[in-house]
Amino acid sequence: MFKNMNIRKRVFVILAIVYIFSMIGVVGAGYYLLTEDTRREAAEKTELFLRSMNANQKYMSQYVRPELNELIGDEYFPEASVGAVMLAKTAKILNTAYPEYLLKISSPNPLNPDNQSTPFEEKIIAGFDKGEYEEYSGFTEINGESFYASAIPIEARKGCIWCHDTPEAAHPDMVAEYGTTSGYGYKEGDIVGTRIVYVSTQKIVELTWKKLAFLSAVVSVLFLVALIIIDLIINRSVVKPIETIVEVAGDISRGKMDRSFDVDTNDEIKSLADAFNRMKVSLQKAMDILRK
Ligand code: HEC
Repeated sequence: MFKNMNIRKRVFVILAIVYIFSMIGVVGAGYYLLTEDTRREAAEKTELFLRSMNANQKYMSQYVRPELNELIGDEYFPEASVGAVMLAKTAKILNTAYPEYLLKISSPNPLNPDNQSTPFEEKIIAGFDKGEYEEYSGFTEINGESFYASAIPIEARKGCIWCHDTPEAAHPDMVAEYGTTSGYGYKEGDIVGTRIVYVSTQKIVELTWKKLAFLSAVVSVLFLVALIIIDLIINRSVVKPIETIVEVAGDISRGKMDRSFDVDTNDEIKSLADAFNRMKVSLQKAMDILRK
């Protein structure tokens, strides 16, 4: 293939091949690095969100609930005593400032149907149940939008059972609100759900593609500039001198002995031109002898 090409074309093709491989390398490595970046950024965000939510709940169970029980006795006030209620409500408030964050107290057997696990969450809960992992994090999609999720298991403890055992045992106000069909039957030690945080990675992913496009454009421009410079150099220092030599050799072969091989370089082509000049002198001498 290269044999039938002129030098400029050959260099162009070689550079084009190098360009294609470089682009594959740049895009591949760039994609890997930027995706890792996205994962790290999303993980940091969800981690912070989840931890601050957990802190809220700890505050409630440590400082509010014990006092509350003494203060209100048999009254039902879930906003100050039920973790799921408090977390869902604070997450909603936070959502007004950060709509890209979602918190869900998810259960396959919920009191509140809004908390019903999706198939994705059920798989995570099953993983917790089998002891495959203690915390889960990874990418997922909701309605075609990309999210990063971090989840921790929710385990039923002794203090949970009186509300989640049977409708008969639970507070009547709670049963009136949530019904009797779902959310009961918890056993101590069961994994009953997951506290899961989603953060939209749409913006981060879009930024990743923008960065990748910018990187590719910079590499392409650099290659284009290199191509133009190399082409200019080859044209001036190789192609043009060779064309001159060819033209002069043609003239001399047609008897124009006053022409000489002059090139404007100081390299191998100059040596070639000098050798041709010496050959022309020898040729002239030989012809002079022959004429005599
Ligand atoms: C005072 C009663 C009460 C206690 C005690 C209680 N819960 Fe709940 N739990 C509720 C109510 C009410 C909801 C529904 C919240 C909502 O509307 O989102 C709920 C919701 C949940 C949910 C979300 C799924 C669903 O059922 O809607 C999980 C998971 C859960 N609780 C687990 C626990 C665990 C684990 C404990 C013990 C640490 C516990 N609960 C203690 C009343 C209680």
